Amino acid sequence: MIGFFDRLSRPFLRAFDPEDAHNLALKALRFVPRGRPEPDPPELKVRAFGLNFPNPIGLAAGFDKNAVAPDALLRLGFGFVEVGSLTPRPQLGNPRPRVFRLEADGGVINRLGFNNGGAAAALARLAARPREGVVGVNIGANKDSVDRTEDYVRLIETFAAVASYFTVNVSSPNTPGLRNLQQAQALDELLSRVMEARDSVRARSGPTPILVKIAPDLTLPELDDVVGIARKHRVDGMIVSNTTISRPSALRDREKAKETGGLSGKPMFKLSTRILAETFVRTENAFPLIGVGGIDSGATAIAKIKAGATLVQLYTGLIYHGIGLVPRMKADIAAALKRGNRDSLAAMVGVDAADITADSWPS
Ligand code: FNR
Repeated sequence: MIGFFDRLSRPFLRAFDPEDAHNLALKALRFVPRGRPEPDPPELKVRAFGLNFPNPIGLAAGFDKNAVAPDALLRLGFGFVEVGSLTPRPQLGNPRPRVFRLEADGGVINRLGFNNGGAAAALARLAARPREGVVGVNIGANKDSVDRTEDYVRLIETFAAVASYFTVNVSSPNTPGLRNLQQAQALDELLSRVMEARDSVRARSGPTPILVKIAPDLTLPELDDVVGIARKHRVDGMIVSNTTISRPSALRDREKAKETGGLSGKPMFKLSTRILAETFVRTENAFPLIGVGGIDSGATAIAKIKAGATLVQLYTGLIYHGIGLVPRMKADIAAALKRGNRDSLAAMVGVDAADITADSWPS
């Protein structure tokens, strides 16, 4: 079954405009057979944020923005799926073309701008699915919203009963001003309201974990503030990181690199892993981290774990390697655990963080 989707998702889809290819892939997910997938090896199990994950590999936000196929994606082998980003009202996003493949680099630049069908439609889909598997909801603000904080609060109230966890996305580069919510005072106010909203629906929905997703473009003093404020508000975790507005000097596709938007995939692996390690050393185990950015193999997933991630997510790797990447990564991670005589990933988390933060800054 994976083989079929794998073939479908690689050379065939890459012949299309990236956004058309993505829409086709989402439609094809309808044909993923029902039934339970092969169970994962027990050593891949992870417990974090009070949730049980069968394996540490998650689908990052942006692939299933409208929550149309979380169960098919779980059946294809992901340990968890993050839907969204969702905004309260539907929104079209920026004009097309707005997704660009940097083939020579294994990267993508997107400036979608939170195109999504809005909260109500996604809620109806999530309410109709079985309560099985970990499905997080990534929330953002409408571009034209007059009170962006209110958007996050409303979305928490809307989705609390169906979300395994929430990701507060303050790091998309494609909604003007959104990343300013990472500034100390703005983040402090936002997280006060967000945690209050979570607590106000707690009686109905339980203590839904709240994670904060950050940009890899923060300066270290900014990161000091962000981690300090996240700890003060006792958030349940952080996701490091969203796409970067930087353009690494080694990029080969110089023409596409000029497109405005967030860069993802292989060319951002080093930067996002550095920021992950910098975040890890600042959290002092106050909460777990999800590492994202440029993962395309078991080895790169393990590198994220050693930099400080308890769980990982990916998106762009799928575009270049197909869905077969997920079972391959799981087998490679399980084999690495066996070689190291370890029975869980927990002992690996953050072992390289100090060394990574002592290195020169990635260019
Ligand atoms: C994204 N990403 C993203 N993140 C988010 O929080 N909300 C979103 O709506 C989106 N949308 C989105 C669309 C596209 C086309 C891409 C490529 C990415 C960012 C994504 O979740 C992830 O953080 C980065 O892409 C880095 O991981 P990869 O892609 O290098 O594995």
